[in-house]
Amino acid sequence: MLPGKDSSCPIDPVRWVTKDLHSDSTFRSSRLFSRPPHLNSISCTPSELYIFYIKPAKLTYMAFTVSRSFVTRSSLRRLVWSRDYLHPRNRLLAESIRSYGSSSAKEQFKIRKINTEEEFKNVIVNWMVEEGWRPGLKDAECFLACDPRAAFVGELNGKPIACATMTKYAGRFNFGGCYIVSKEYREKGYGGMLYDVAMARAMPSRSIAIAGLLHLEELYKRKGFRSQFYGARFDLHPPTAITRFSEISERCHGPVNIKCTEEVDLQALFKYDAAVFGAERHAFLIKWFRIPGKHGRVAINSEGSIVGYTVARPSFVKKEGYKIGPLFADSEPIAEKLLKAVFEELLQEEPVPVVCIDALTKKAKEISEKLQGKKSFEIVYMVMYDLPDACFDKWFGMTTLELG
Ligand SMILES: CC(C)(COP(=O)(O)OP(=O)(O)OC[C@H]1O[C@@H](n2cnc3c(N)ncnc32)[C@H](O)[C@@H]1OP(=O)(O)O)[C@@H](O)C(=O)NCCC(=O)NCCS
Repeated sequence: MLPGKDSSCPIDPVRWVTKDLHSDSTFRSSRLFSRPPHLNSISCTPSELYIFYIKPAKLTYMAFTVSRSFVTRSSLRRLVWSRDYLHPRNRLLAESIRSYGSSSAKEQFKIRKINTEEEFKNVIVNWMVEEGWRPGLKDAECFLACDPRAAFVGELNGKPIACATMTKYAGRFNFGGCYIVSKEYREKGYGGMLYDVAMARAMPSRSIAIAGLLHLEELYKRKGFRSQFYGARFDLHPPTAITRFSEISERCHGPVNIKCTEEVDLQALFKYDAAVFGAERHAFLIKWFRIPGKHGRVAINSEGSIVGYTVARPSFVKKEGYKIGPLFADSEPIAEKLLKAVFEELLQEEPVPVVCIDALTKKAKEISEKLQGKKSFEIVYMVMYDLPDACFDKWFGMTTLELG
């Protein structure tokens, strides 16, 4: 029997797993899990117990992998269960048989949390730079403020080789990102193991979303995600964009005032962001609005209500310029007006920086195209279970590809 929500007796996860594996004909050995697994950790040696991950306080989920000696066909089968795994929606289970031919008996792969900004920067941010994702200057600090327990690192014999984040928002909405395995360790199964742990963290979930690279769409579909929007990252050149703004400025009329983020009521801005983003994220935004060198603008209508806002933040690598995110607005003319205000400021810089924006929806892509943005790569916004409660209609630029 699987542990129930209100089960008062202590759960013996070893017995639980053993029992369930025995009911699966793929698994043969009666020696399974002869020693207790480490809680909240992943460890493996190819000849023994492979992976174990459990949240002991709530027993909300567990994930594990069993080594090749316990399964047929000299391969591994990975299982990820939420506690209520009999419910088809929660049953993530079921990675296919995978060969781990390259594992040596000495290898030990461990997955643990990243808790410090320093480590987040050294591992995740630097790898994002290598991947050409152009992280922002203070992403480590801001991402950890959003959810201090979201980041995982996978270490092979103590050396970091993989990372991923699974950010939890209120209302059981989760967003996965920063999914990277070091080049020389790819296609050996490490990414898959890390993926399972990140997904286990999201359980139980009402909604899980990711912004994946388009060429990985099939992979995520196999895992149960469905495609929602096809977007792209665009590089915008402020001097070119400004000329296009003057052509469209006729449409940017109306009594909308543009102010700096510092000049508006922060609570009102939080409220607007939560309504458009689909979840509250005050701790994150407080850091976001304080990023050194950022340009933040808010659009206010004649009634004094916020009708849009944007932030342009410097990239971690200075020569990579700025990143726009978010660009939320009630209408396209307002989005354009906000962008124009930011670009006018950026034109003062020497040399004028390049600016990138992640446009998800058709309307968002149209603005970037109108400003003669150059497509740098394509993304697909994918969702498992329900759609987040966001007003995607008002998304003219995603906040980040990593946090949603
Ligand atoms: C994507 C990535 C993290 C996968 O890590 P990995 O260790 O190579 O993955 P694994 O060997 O565990 O394989 C996991 C799954 O990914 C698939 N996969 C791995 N690389 C792939 C690729 N380039 N294209 C398509 N599928 C791929 C595998 O076939 C496997 O699928 P399965 O679970 O259905 O069998 C890794 O290739 C990477 O770091 N890529 C560069 C960064 C990146 O693009 N991140 C994803 C952003 S959306």
